[in-house]
Amino acid sequence: MNGQEEWHNSPIGVFDSGVGGLTVAREIMRQLPNERIVYFGDTARVPYGNKSKETVTRYSRQIVRFLETQQVKAIVVACNTASAYALEDLEKEVDLPMIGVVKPGARTALAATANKKIGVVATEATISSGIYSRYIEEYDSDVSVIGKACPLFVPLVEEGLWEDPVTDEIARRYLTELIDSGIDTLILGCTHYPMLRSTVGKIMGEGVTLVNPAYETARELKALLAERGLESGHRPGLGTELYRFFVSDAADKFQRFANSILPYGILSAKQIRIDEF
Ligand code: DGL
Repeated sequence: MNGQEEWHNSPIGVFDSGVGGLTVAREIMRQLPNERIVYFGDTARVPYGNKSKETVTRYSRQIVRFLETQQVKAIVVACNTASAYALEDLEKEVDLPMIGVVKPGARTALAATANKKIGVVATEATISSGIYSRYIEEYDSDVSVIGKACPLFVPLVEEGLWEDPVTDEIARRYLTELIDSGIDTLILGCTHYPMLRSTVGKIMGEGVTLVNPAYETARELKALLAERGLESGHRPGLGTELYRFFVSDAADKFQRFANSILPYGILSAKQIRIDEF
């Protein structure tokens, strides 16, 4: 990369275990329309949510190495599980500015809660890492955090059953103990769960605020780029590819899913060998 001017115009690397991180990419596109994005979805190795910290960290490290080859100026770990398990290690190893989705989600929930009872729904890995509780209790030790792993939500979303009686039934089973605990705020602590927002909202009722960490993550990314003088000053001109998508498997399936989440059709997703990085 030659010179500061070009560096400003470098893309932001966004990665996830698969398609779910597109909910975060979508928010970055909306709030930071001048920024280019290189998205990587690890579709060959998804899900991360039932894997060990060691494995998720190894996978995430390979993805970061790949994104570095794309000359990204910052990295967003859009996956909650990777944010929970790998981000702290990666931050020590990599020079680029990096943010995850967990801290922004925790901060939004803290601002939203009135009764200081916050629920978190996420993958088994994110819940057992205890990371949301740790961040929230670091800011305010009077807040109690109740976590619930919802492992069937990811396949339901990937099967397109966003609003379906089967999803209602499973959601009711998962959420009953959170309703009983009296929380007034619920963090959708997994990339896929914003797609179930209306189902979860209907079951939790109007008194519970649902937090989608993607919104605050994009806001924090914007502030981080401004602080480091890394904002792209203008929307890239015609002929420059604004968004590029890479996956580790099943590019066609990824493309179909992306087209149901993003506000415009993506042209293509390129398959790469991520285990070579
Ligand atoms: N992206 C993951 C997360 O946000 C969900 C899917 C998976 O288990 O890999 O935790």
